[in-house]
Amino acid sequence: MSKPRKLQIPDLRRKAREGTPLTMITCYDYSMAHFVEEAGLDMVLVGDSLGMTLLGFDSTLPVTMEDMVRHAAAVRRGAPGQFLVGDLPYMSYQPSNAIAVKSAGRLMAEGGCDAVKLEGGREVVRRVEAIVEAGIPVMGHIGLTPQSASSLGGFRLQGKTADAAARLIEDAALLEAAGVFALLVELVPDRVCRIVTESAQIPIIGLGSGPDAHGQLLIFHDLFGLYPDFRPKMAKLYRDLGAAVLEGLKEYADDVRERRFPAAEHRFAMADDEIAELERRLSTSRRRRPLPSSISSS
Ligand code: KIV
Repeated sequence: MSKPRKLQIPDLRRKAREGTPLTMITCYDYSMAHFVEEAGLDMVLVGDSLGMTLLGFDSTLPVTMEDMVRHAAAVRRGAPGQFLVGDLPYMSYQPSNAIAVKSAGRLMAEGGCDAVKLEGGREVVRRVEAIVEAGIPVMGHIGLTPQSASSLGGFRLQGKTADAAARLIEDAALLEAAGVFALLVELVPDRVCRIVTESAQIPIIGLGSGPDAHGQLLIFHDLFGLYPDFRPKMAKLYRDLGAAVLEGLKEYADDVRERRFPAAEHRFAMADDEIAELERRLSTSRRRRPLPSSISSS
């Protein structure tokens, strides 16, 4: 059976317009990308959350462009037919338009991405315009924006007050006007996300923001119980791979200790005549070679 063609931005827009929910997940490596593509999701985000989920940092701030390019390229190799969004990491776009365009270009050219994502509202509008002007599609990201967690008071719900919600709604409109092709709305109350979605002409993707967005994003490690530090309320655990991995590791260690592994089916045989010849050669060379003095004297 032939593989479905890779979705393009007009396909994503059409689905959103028709009310077909868009599916998106983060992914960081080649092998998992293979499964994501096989499962037929609409979009993949190579998120800078990899700094926490894969690298064990307690924030996304230490993630570099090199990290992002390397992981995006790995995901692209595993999922050649997937619409891939690469996250611009901390300080790869904030300093200037020129730096932002250069970083976005690297994610496209070296990471094989179809689009980039950056965090922020009105304060990043000029960066969005510059990247879009360079011909690179940009996804916006408002609400909880992890790169600013410190100034947002931690990893917590955003837009809870009328003031904060009104600001978020304005930010969404400003980003759309600046040219983002889609907008991620993370961790805001359902009703705020609904207003953003109803006002938008672009696909709105929700993460922990209720059911009304045009699509949903989850972090891969949350879906499968693979992040040991934290189980967020907003994520549904679809399979507990973390528990399965732990069980498997304990079983493996037991098998080795009890000499049940490797079993016959995991071993490689040698033909009898070859082993006989090897033994003959070894015994001849042992007879010829004098033992080292340290061994012969003991
Ligand atoms: O890096 C990431 O995975 C993200 C999500 C938290 C939306 O930006």
